[in-house]
Amino acid sequence: MVKPLDYEMRDGYRIPALGLGTWMLKGARCTAIVKRAIELGYKHIDTADMYGNHEEIGEAIKGVDRASIFLVSKVRPNNLQYHSVIRDCNRNLRELGTDYFDLYLIHWPNKTVPIQETLRAFNELVDEGKIKSIGVSNFTIHHLNDALRAEYHPISNNQVRFHPYDHDPSLLKYCHKQRIVVTAYSPLGKARILSHTTIQKMAKKYKHTSAQICLRWGLQKGVVVIPKTQSKARLIENMDIFNWEISQEDMKRLDSLT
Ligand SMILES: NC(=O)c1ccc[n+]([C@@H]2O[C@H](COP(=O)([O-])OP(=O)(O)OC[C@H]3O[C@@H](n4cnc5c(N)ncnc54)[C@H](OP(=O)(O)O)[C@@H]3O)[C@@H](O)[C@H]2O)c1
Repeated sequence: MVKPLDYEMRDGYRIPALGLGTWMLKGARCTAIVKRAIELGYKHIDTADMYGNHEEIGEAIKGVDRASIFLVSKVRPNNLQYHSVIRDCNRNLRELGTDYFDLYLIHWPNKTVPIQETLRAFNELVDEGKIKSIGVSNFTIHHLNDALRAEYHPISNNQVRFHPYDHDPSLLKYCHKQRIVVTAYSPLGKARILSHTTIQKMAKKYKHTSAQICLRWGLQKGVVVIPKTQSKARLIENMDIFNWEISQEDMKRLDSLT
């Protein structure tokens, strides 16, 4: 199997298949972990306005060649009005000390703001070079249908909860067909699924850890994985997912856990 180091998105840009999730990472620990991740070779950092850690991440990427990292953030669901998106994106860029996002997402859908209004702001931000790719998060097929109808610059990414115990095959199929790359959030099920018997048996069989089984399963499903860790040792562990493979039979077994 070809190692999926990155995927091409609907707009032609590429997204690294492994990223570092940063939800709950704050303060000096956040800066240190992001710095270490970049030193180790992580190319993709996932944050959000809601996580309140832009400044810490900005500190970590100071002096790093901006083109060598793929930076993702998300606008809050309560701020999807045209002027709020423009204001928040500019503020988020200032907080991070950068002049563009590789990918900027609508964090959650909000039915009180028409998607056309939100996308108008996103399109303008693309035209101004402040974001390269537009994405969404927690969108169902129904939300995506509406968004694609209003699309001008392509909607390239949908970030959703995705791990062996919780994934939606019809949403994945829809996204693949539209070349919308899916990013798996909580790819380790917030560590709650790692002690489950099937996953542990599989880890033993493949001589890898339960976390690596979950992440490798995600890669073989064709999604981006963004595990969060505050541990430097686990940063390394979570990178060892590219040079080995889960058999088709075991993939089906993991698929059926949902
Ligand atoms: N778009 C959205 O609405 C949304 C929602 C949730 C999350 N996210 C994004 O997705 C990222 C990941 O999701 P998540 O933080 O919910 O959960 P996760 O990545 O599935 O799990 C994180 C948990 O797993 C532990 N862990 C990490 N690596 C491990 C390993 N190798 N072995 C054992 N335990 C390990 C971490 O503990 P330690 O830190 O102690 O290692 C932490 O408790 C978030 O950080 C965020 O960036 C997005």
